[in-house]
Amino acid sequence: MRVGLAGLGVMGYRIGANLVKAGKLDVVYNRTVSRAEQFSKEYGVKYVTDPKELIKSVDLLITMLADDSAVSSFLLPLSPYAKDKIIVDMSTISPSTSISIANEIMKNGGMMYDAPVIGTSIFAEQKKLTVLLGGPESHVNTVTEILKETASTIIYMGKNGMGLYAKLVNNLMVGVYVAALAEAYNFGISAGLKPEDVHKVLALYGSAKSPTSELKVPKMMNSDYSTQFATKHMRKDLEIITKETQNLHVVNPLSSLALQLYRFAEALGYSESDYAAVLEVYKKANLVKVK
Ligand SMILES: NC(=O)c1ccc[n+]([C@@H]2O[C@H](COP(=O)([O-])OP(=O)(O)OC[C@H]3O[C@@H](n4cnc5c(N)ncnc54)[C@H](OP(=O)(O)O)[C@@H]3O)[C@@H](O)[C@H]2O)c1
Repeated sequence: MRVGLAGLGVMGYRIGANLVKAGKLDVVYNRTVSRAEQFSKEYGVKYVTDPKELIKSVDLLITMLADDSAVSSFLLPLSPYAKDKIIVDMSTISPSTSISIANEIMKNGGMMYDAPVIGTSIFAEQKKLTVLLGGPESHVNTVTEILKETASTIIYMGKNGMGLYAKLVNNLMVGVYVAALAEAYNFGISAGLKPEDVHKVLALYGSAKSPTSELKVPKMMNSDYSTQFATKHMRKDLEIITKETQNLHVVNPLSSLALQLYRFAEALGYSESDYAAVLEVYKKANLVKVK
């Protein structure tokens, strides 16, 4: 089986590296060619500059792109070439967009899976991603055979869109949670607690500690906003959640509030930074200065 990968960003680059090391990647593509050149040089894998050439040369195509518009504008023009191809989209996009692309691919004789991931770049490096898979049951094993080289857990959630809904359930939780961590951290520091003592409560011994607080509280302590997951991506996911909850006629007071906080963070210049930078919104709004 010939496998291709489009999208060598923070996640795609690392996923690609895992697949190459397992001997399961034949060709890559990236919109910004220099990144594909760099990957090709580092891992000895062919790169192409034309998406059509990419899809024609593989049986299974993985995409790891930024958002709805990136995935639509990349995949829809390729649908005429989708006969007998398996498309595995690992991006986090809106389930409704993904379902309509999947229908287009299916009309042309191919099949598509939504395969968003839980886990940041560090998890990707350690091959410890969790993949939430949605799509036809028929080729789940084929897809799993490839994705197991970059993920420690693959959960089949059902038909097209279900992987993405499951991913959004996760991101609703972490989006609200990291905003709450920032609020709690800012409160503790403003009250005069030492950063390391607030860390003990939020990340080590407190009743709401989690892998996410272990990861993000040290970043908040050090104002280290090097990107594990960009603020712009968290904002995008909370926007998708807000639209999907509207479609489903369910309320989302907490995630819509968190969405506004990440928008403020972007307005402060933290769009490309890690979403732990939401702490800066609180610092800016304080009437007292905190470190
Ligand atoms: N980073 C994380 O921790 C994480 C965790 C879970 C899920 N995710 C999700 O995974 C996806 C990728 O995240 P990432 O962090 O890898 O993002 P990223 O570093 O911003 O990479 C985005 C990729 O999409 C490409 N792209 C953007 N617009 C495009 C377009 N119009 N046409 C073709 N290619 C386009 C970019 O190409 P260029 O190089 O040319 O810009 C790049 O390869 C997102 O949906 C994100 O929400 C990320």
